[in-house]
Amino acid sequence: MRYTVILQRCVLGFCVSLLGLGILMFFGNSISDVESDENQHQEMYQAFKDGRCKSCHPAIWREWEKSMHAQAWVDEIYQEAAKQIANREKSCDPCHAPEPILVTGIGKMPKLRSVQQESGVSCLVCHLDKDGAMQGPPASAETNFHANVTNSIYQSPTKLCATCHGQPSVPEHDQVSSFLESRFAAEKKSCATCHMPVVNRLQSTASYESIKGRKHTWQGSRSVTQLKNAATLKIEFADKKATVVLQNKAGHLLPGGTLRIIVLDLTHLAPDGTQHEKKQVLISEKAKNRLKPDEKRTFVFDVNSGDTLKAALRYQLTPKTPESEWVQMGEISKIVP
Ligand code: HEC
Ligand code: HEC
Ligand code: HEC
Ligand code: HEC
Ligand code: HEC
Repeated sequence: MRYTVILQRCVLGFCVSLLGLGILMFFGNSISDVESDENQHQEMYQAFKDGRCKSCHPAIWREWEKSMHAQAWVDEIYQEAAKQIANREKSCDPCHAPEPILVTGIGKMPKLRSVQQESGVSCLVCHLDKDGAMQGPPASAETNFHANVTNSIYQSPTKLCATCHGQPSVPEHDQVSSFLESRFAAEKKSCATCHMPVVNRLQSTASYESIKGRKHTWQGSRSVTQLKNAATLKIEFADKKATVVLQNKAGHLLPGGTLRIIVLDLTHLAPDGTQHEKKQVLISEKAKNRLKPDEKRTFVFDVNSGDTLKAALRYQLTPKTPESEWVQMGEISKIVP
């Protein structure tokens, strides 16, 4: 991994950063390196708590705040599940309220943080490095508040995401393995392609140039738009047979999570509307039939001209979600020619 500290981007920022460094070096003489690292970390945690990140990065903050990363600890579904695990501090909590992963190591199992657990997967978890700097994609401005360090992992962050979404010892939470075997990986796409849409904007209130960044929304299965993009339904006819084709369009196994259930309802009606056949198929980790990326699953019916075939796809967030709250992902109805 190669880092470049960006100091040369703007004249004004350059002066400010140099001054910042100067002060550090001055005090640096009397403090050991380890202590100054710890102080800088404490400063950043305090700044996070005091709303400083929010005041300079308001747009990103608002997106993050509503995301499941911000909820990763307070999420009731999580707390309910973790309560039942005897050694949750070792086996669950480390990813739901982690230490900064640049400190524990990209790809390594995260460690449980002892402070600010309620902020879940916070800004600091993904950006704060061991020196107290913020690592990210190429920046356009400087600030004397924190050092900016460019790290290429952010522009195609699958490995960063895999630290929690692809730990080999936690297969229940793995979206990365199936992604890496898909055409999306071959086409050089990343987890950010679908979960962090590109946006041009000022990256902070201290910036004066809009540059390309990415939304910090991480919309997943709680987004109706994502669910409608997750799969397609088609009906094809050939010699007295009708075939319903369900195809996965997500970048990984569908459903992506192991708690989720996809419900496929298939109905075959006679021309007068009487029901010939009705079938319900559940797709989930429990049923061991999740779809791989691009995988097609087919259901064949014997039909006559004038019959109607219907297929509807719904999404159940957890096994306890009542049917009235299942989300419609897609629907199709066709008359046999
Ligand atoms: C390696 C990191 C990691 C560990 C360890 C981990 N989780 Fe998670 N957890 C995640 C990630 C990433 C997600 C979101 C993706 C997913 O659902 O697969 C998640 C999501 C969840 C959800 C779904 C919440 C929702 O949105 O409905 C539950 C429940 C959960 N975890 C419970 C647990 C429990 C219980 C343990 C311990 C037995 C645990 N997790 C351990 C990373 C982890
Ligand atoms: C005084 C304003 C200010 C504060 C406070 C501030 N930042 Fe920044 N931050 C900036 C500026 C300016 C940039 C560069 C933006 C640009 O490229 O236009 C930046 C860039 C970043 C970057 C990208 C780094 C890179 O090299 O790509 C991250 C990540 C970041 N900040 C996180 C944070 C976090 C987390 C906090 C709270 C602990 C925080 N910032 C507080 C002004 C601030
Ligand atoms: C430090 C661990 C960690 C890292 C790194 C991480 N995530 Fe997550 N992510 C989680 C946890 C934990 C959750 C589950 C929160 C919950 O539902 O309780 C989650 C939830 C999500 C969700 C929402 C799932 C839902 O149910 O709506 C998406 C999408 C997501 N992450 C994508 C990403 C992407 C893309 C990256 C890389 C840029 C990434 N994550 C990096 C831990 C992490
Ligand atoms: C799950 C990991 C994760 C979390 C949590 C996270 N970021 Fe980021 N952040 C990223 C990634 C990945 C990028 C690179 C996006 C790109 O290519 O532009 C990024 C980019 C940035 C940038 C550069 C501008 C841009 O859009 O690229 C800033 C500034 C930033 N983040 C600040 C923050 C702040 C402030 C928070 C908390 C409110 C935060 N980030 C939370 C992963 C994260
Ligand atoms: C081609 C677009 C695409 C790509 C690439 C992609 N995803 Fe998804 N992802 C989706 C869609 C659509 C959904 C909603 C359907 C579902 O829940 O599986 C989703 C859902 C999720 C969820 C929520 C699962 C749940 O149970 O709530 C997580 C977490 C997630 N993705 C993480 C990732 C990670 C990590 C990567 C990179 C390895 C990634 N995604 C790559 C499209 C994509």
